[in-house]
Amino acid sequence: MERKQDWIRDLVVYQVYPRSFMDSNGDGIGDLNGVRQKLPYLKKLGVNALWLSPFFCSPGDDNGYDVSDYDGIQPEFGTMADCEALIRECHALGMRFIIDVVVNHSSDEHPWFIESASSRENDKSDFYIWRDPVDGHEPTNWWSVFGGSAWEYVPARGQYYFHLFSRKQPDLNWRSPQLRQQIFAMMNRWADRGVDGFRLDAASHYAKPEHFVDSTLPPMPDGYAPAFDQLSNTPETHAIVNAMNQAVFTPRQLFTVGEVGCQTPQDMQDYALPQRQEFDAIIPFIPPQEEVGKKVAEVLRSRYQSQYDALHDGSRWALFLSNHDKPRQVSSWGDEGALWEVSAKALALCLHGLPGIPFVYEGEELGMTNAYFPRIEDYRDIDSRNVYRTLLLEGKTPQQALQGVWEVSRDHARTPMQWDDSENAGFTCGTPWIGVNRNYREINAARQEADSLSVLHFYRELIALRRRYPVLRDGDLAFLPIAPEDRLLVYRRQDQGIRLLVTANLSHQPCALPDSLSSHLRTCTPLLTSYNREGNPEAGTLRPFEAILWQETAEE
Ligand code: NOJ
Ligand code: CA
Repeated sequence: MERKQDWIRDLVVYQVYPRSFMDSNGDGIGDLNGVRQKLPYLKKLGVNALWLSPFFCSPGDDNGYDVSDYDGIQPEFGTMADCEALIRECHALGMRFIIDVVVNHSSDEHPWFIESASSRENDKSDFYIWRDPVDGHEPTNWWSVFGGSAWEYVPARGQYYFHLFSRKQPDLNWRSPQLRQQIFAMMNRWADRGVDGFRLDAASHYAKPEHFVDSTLPPMPDGYAPAFDQLSNTPETHAIVNAMNQAVFTPRQLFTVGEVGCQTPQDMQDYALPQRQEFDAIIPFIPPQEEVGKKVAEVLRSRYQSQYDALHDGSRWALFLSNHDKPRQVSSWGDEGALWEVSAKALALCLHGLPGIPFVYEGEELGMTNAYFPRIEDYRDIDSRNVYRTLLLEGKTPQQALQGVWEVSRDHARTPMQWDDSENAGFTCGTPWIGVNRNYREINAARQEADSLSVLHFYRELIALRRRYPVLRDGDLAFLPIAPEDRLLVYRRQDQGIRLLVTANLSHQPCALPDSLSSHLRTCTPLLTSYNREGNPEAGTLRPFEAILWQETAEE
């Protein structure tokens, strides 16, 4: 069997959001058999691992990130037999299978919580974080991520429980040895079922403080204050991850990628350096709010420079611009109009030229765009609805609040995959659980399959190039300081004699390159360009969203 350390080096991961990928039975909800139907499409794309967002039993308050049975499949997604068949079929195609493990919290409908909440004396009494009222109120002023207090009162216990996310997502108490053993056993059962890896949700928050202290950070409009400083990256959380690693990850040779909120390079290293024995790789969590208005050239340069500096000595990190928690990348950073196609390709080229593990989020490979639903009732996401409420509390009008939702909504990424131009984009023959993007007749997989210069084919080429040029995977990275740095991104990848260069203009205007660089480019060979419909690039000026991958000549 291939060693984990070897296959990890070649990973290109595709993230499936099962609810929105492909509906096999017409109930309007994507499912595991839908993913099975589309495996040939994924194989052809060239990815060699799938990460599925949660498909376990769940009341769906946060679309499956609230699990009520870690070993059960939510019936709308299929059965355990479907899941086992999917894992087998992935393996037969040479693809790894990664599940999302959500163990910072469970659902409040998990039997553990129901028992824990029933009294102060029961077997699961300490499986969650319970505190007595203070002066008849919540124990602290803490805010929860989807709005309101982080504490919820349960009369049967006369106590509050803590929930970092929604009140239907109570946080698990990792100080309980029984809870730990149960979770580790559950993880081992998934390894028995053949999964190759885990994406660990909200992993930087596992440990909760022993003493809860009021937050002094500025309160949100609802009056409660975030307390991330007391809840993130503590030594106790690292000890928990290390214990998981010893009990499960290492013995079962699982690939693990932790979703972690990191403030400093040290935070990243603490999770991902091999000698720490925690995760193999990290996905730094970046709230969409933090990206609004940012220039993508600067985002890519600063984000990946710091990840590279912190981690290139032996560890790995996820390379991504999109996931199920963010608006669509081409809408945030590219262009939804005339430059749609070149901008989708340019963003892809810039990201896939970097070191790290590329993650492709479903639909990104088609250049899918934001949906901008016209009414708040069209949104399904708990976070989008909370953003709307918060903006109203701040005094915004309903129209302004809706615009605020358009900027950050996670539902932009959750509209159904656009497979073809038939009704509902070929996603379902029923009524989709969330609206289909109106542009599906122009942007869809069937149309792009038939066009060898489409965004879809471009992604296939990029993924194939990463295999053909190991320097893209293993080579050193150096960003070149070419002005204007808010629009231009220029970097070199180098490994022994092989040198590749990326030059990209990530703006809506043409951009002249300095003479020294353009004369150098005349000696280079273009390998791929976002203007691939237009023939060879010109070395002196980059057109709007023109991104080019060059091979530099050996003797230079
Ligand atoms: C991060 C997940 O990516 C997000 O979708 C979810 O809402 C939170 N963790 C809570 O599980
Ligand atoms: Ca279905």
